[in-house]
Amino acid sequence: ADPDPLQDLCVADLSASISANNFPCKPLSDVTSDDFVFDGLRKQANFTDAFGVTVTTGNVLSFPGLNTLGIAMNRVDIEPGGINPPHSHPRASEIGIVIEGKILAGIVTTKNVYYSKVLTAGQVFVIPRGLVHFQLNVGQKKALTFTAFNSHLPGSTVLPLNLFAAAPSIPVEVLTKTFLVDEDAINNIKSKFVF
Ligand code: GLV
Ligand code: MN
Repeated sequence: ADPDPLQDLCVADLSASISANNFPCKPLSDVTSDDFVFDGLRKQANFTDAFGVTVTTGNVLSFPGLNTLGIAMNRVDIEPGGINPPHSHPRASEIGIVIEGKILAGIVTTKNVYYSKVLTAGQVFVIPRGLVHFQLNVGQKKALTFTAFNSHLPGSTVLPLNLFAAAPSIPVEVLTKTFLVDEDAINNIKSKFVF
């Protein structure tokens, strides 16, 4: 989904002071073999949220060698019973392969049609660009999945965090009227998203 590259190499200079629709390239004379290798997906980062998932990202921000190439890769570690909650990627379709464990992978279309499948090691799934999707660990053990994207920075809109953990907060009245519940119900949900 990203624009085509205009040159062989454009390793991102993440610290550049100019900001355009991408990152500028660091000088070719500074490019080394290490710019084309990323160790960040060898192990999961620490669990950081209440969902029992760790999404470890290999996008242009963590792996500057991806700059302008229109690709990225994550690893998704989900604890037994944990969930990678409903989210969407505004700039990329996603393809994923289950390495270990058993997940329920679900998609909901813009017409609110739900598709899902239980997947195990070796199975590959695809998520069309922008559609809401999730993965629930339905196995007894940890689940490990690698996912890839056709953008160097796919972005991730995580629905529960967008609505209930925005900073500054979305006014409670917006949420009571959106979900047709009272303030207590909204505040109860919000209290769970204080990390
Ligand atoms: C999984 O859905 C991911 O976005 O890595
Ligand atoms: Mn995803």
